[in-house]
Amino acid sequence: MTNPALPDIEIRPVVRCAQLEQLLDACHLSASDLTSSQALQLFGAFAGTELAGAVGLEIYSSVALLRSLAVAPEQRRKGLGDRLVKLAEERAEAQGVAAIYLLTTTAAPFFEKRGYRVAARTDAPDAIRATAQFSGLCPASSTFMVKRRTT
Ligand SMILES: CC(C)(COP(=O)(O)OP(=O)(O)OC[C@H]1O[C@@H](n2cnc3c(N)ncnc32)[C@H](O)[C@@H]1OP(=O)(O)O)[C@@H](O)C(=O)NCCC(=O)NCCS
Repeated sequence: MTNPALPDIEIRPVVRCAQLEQLLDACHLSASDLTSSQALQLFGAFAGTELAGAVGLEIYSSVALLRSLAVAPEQRRKGLGDRLVKLAEERAEAQGVAAIYLLTTTAAPFFEKRGYRVAARTDAPDAIRATAQFSGLCPASSTFMVKRRTT
């Protein structure tokens, strides 16, 4: 569905680039494992040539890590974050993912409204536990969350 607040945003696959690193930096998210994560798929939301938002998905068979969800401060509260999460969920479902995990320091309420629930780190699948985000890049105080496919 078209969102009138986001008339000219195009979401497409993106690779690590200076624009993406700047966006993640502005959103206080780490970019240091963007090339080392072999399973990482990245998507960028472009307003013309400007990178307005991004989301990353690391898929490990039936589980995935949603990470690097970032919307430029001036583009927030227009529905772009929601659109990026939905795109990541659709991609994950199409690739057979049954549970999506994430870590967040500030956006837990945003994700709760989108069906994610706080989970114990001890319940993390091995593949998620082995990611750079889980094992070190995200602060220990981050909230660990999961959304399981219901169908
Ligand atoms: C979390 C984040 C991605 C949200 O991005 P966003 O584009 O503002 O998200 P949305 O616009 O889809 O939704 C944000 C809120 O704005 C509201 N909103 C959406 N469109 C709106 C509009 N046109 N007018 C006013 N409010 C609107 C939504 O209802 C939502 O509120 P809710 O969470 O209470 O439901 C963004 O704040 C961000 O980049 N944060 C820093 C990085 C981060 O924490 N990432 C997550 C960890 S990976």
